[in-house]
Amino acid sequence: MSFTPAPWPRRLRSQEWYEGTTKDNIYYRSWMKNQGLPADLFDGRPVIGICNTWSQLTPCNAHLRDLAERVKHGIYEAGGLPLEFPVFSTGESSLRPTAMMYRNLAAMDVEEALRGNPLDGVVLLAGCDKTTPALLMGAASVDIPAIVVSGGPMLNGWFRGERVGSGTALWQMSEAVKAGTMTNADFLEAEQAMSRSPGSCNTMGTASTMASMAEALGMALSGNAAIPAVDSRRRVMAHLTGRRIVQMVKDDLKPSDILTKTAFENAIRVNGAIGGSTNAVIHLLAIAGRVGVDLTLDDWDRCGRDIPTVVNLMPSGKYLMEEFFYAGGLPVVIRALAEAGKIDGGALTVSGGPIAAEVAEVRNWNEDVIRPFDKALTPQGGIAVLRGNLAPDGAVLKPSAASPHLMVHRGRAVVFEDIDDYKARINDEALDIDETCVMVLKNCGPRGYPGMAEVGNMGLPPKVLRKGITDMVRISDARMSGTAYGTVVLHTSPEAARGGPLAVVQTGDMIELDVPNRRLHLDITEAELARRLADWRSTVVRPSGGWAQLYHDHVDGADTGADMDFLKGCRGRAVARHSH
Ligand code: FES
Repeated sequence: MSFTPAPWPRRLRSQEWYEGTTKDNIYYRSWMKNQGLPADLFDGRPVIGICNTWSQLTPCNAHLRDLAERVKHGIYEAGGLPLEFPVFSTGESSLRPTAMMYRNLAAMDVEEALRGNPLDGVVLLAGCDKTTPALLMGAASVDIPAIVVSGGPMLNGWFRGERVGSGTALWQMSEAVKAGTMTNADFLEAEQAMSRSPGSCNTMGTASTMASMAEALGMALSGNAAIPAVDSRRRVMAHLTGRRIVQMVKDDLKPSDILTKTAFENAIRVNGAIGGSTNAVIHLLAIAGRVGVDLTLDDWDRCGRDIPTVVNLMPSGKYLMEEFFYAGGLPVVIRALAEAGKIDGGALTVSGGPIAAEVAEVRNWNEDVIRPFDKALTPQGGIAVLRGNLAPDGAVLKPSAASPHLMVHRGRAVVFEDIDDYKARINDEALDIDETCVMVLKNCGPRGYPGMAEVGNMGLPPKVLRKGITDMVRISDARMSGTAYGTVVLHTSPEAARGGPLAVVQTGDMIELDVPNRRLHLDITEAELARRLADWRSTVVRPSGGWAQLYHDHVDGADTGADMDFLKGCRGRAVARHSH
């Protein structure tokens, strides 16, 4: 895809504020000068926002101020004026009820900050899971030149000679404690080894997945995704990105030039190859909605079907992001996919050129970390999109994180009406459940929770774990952490809180999962299903006031990205009025 740069020099958007001698121009410039900015910085050079999700409440992004300084060096060096600003930061580990409830709020914050201020371009500083899609969504709705710098992953965790993968180890160890194969004291000791440097989760969880998606979409410089947070090359990446955004502004290379349907198809295929998080499904659908690209759940299944998972990282595999970087990182994967004809190497990136050109010289330095296609972890690594009378609008499952023996399974449903019901009963030895059953969890979708919690990978009952069983079929309208694993059907749509068929599943019903045929079936008659749905009444209480109420009333289903109905689309960069 070719791109024709805009003519340069030309009048930039920021000059609507800063160029001239009127009272308003003086107002705009004078107050900025209280920061010690020389007059000639307002001479028509590109004004670049550094949109920072730094926050001590988002520990994965707590090092981003240092990176912002590196970005500034690059911007100044290239002749731009950098202006750093904060936006709402969604910290996955602490934010309740779930960081996902605030992704759209953060995106709205970004969008309004970009449009309302004298900015010609923006560097998006992201890291923890939701921060990357939120920033991309906001920037896409304004469509000024934008580029992502990720904070980078934490260094490997190590405990007693074993890798400790963020999140993945937490789920494994918690199950081991329940099964009686690990003591709580050891679990507490392992805690000290889990997070040993700044950065985001070191597994191929949602943060690493979304950093990879930003790169695969063409919205970050090549190589951005995998550099560890504390590696000096992460600072170099930030510096180079600062330089690059200035030229992007001069060229007027916008998100809408890069975020084409082809770019999304490429990203979906890359997600299959890296064994990426199921959360990427929702986030890419939402980003596509902001630029008006018609991306659907079926595109996920279609594009991902023949993509082998070649990146041997937890939760699907063995290694962690640090090793992925040393092996060559995402550029190696992109090159392999492009040369195999599995992605379109002509897709445009922030470089101004095709994605294949960016990776033409890279080499794979460790073929156990990044496998050749003929030694893939899973031959079909994409996201499976399931449909049937239990999920008329679709549900997703990640085959690379699932158990092969459960991919075709028929079992008796054990239903939990919501997450509190699950927590109250799952450890009850009297619960009538065994490993052949199908665990069903309701009311954890976007509207039901609210915010769509990462609880779909429900922990197994202790009495099943004690038998050495580590996986069962689980079905819900929730999400699961990108660091989690198991034969877990997620995002079942319509969600229970909207009266989807999931709402009327009863304990004792038989459920059929058939991943090869993409089928999810509740084995009751059509008439019985219709009768139950007619009798159904929502038990979800509408939040009273604030963002939670707005979210409840306007959030879309997971099958279309769980964006707010009023935030979809691109509203552009123009501001009609100003106040003085
Ligand atoms: Fe922030 Fe995993 S909790 S990246």
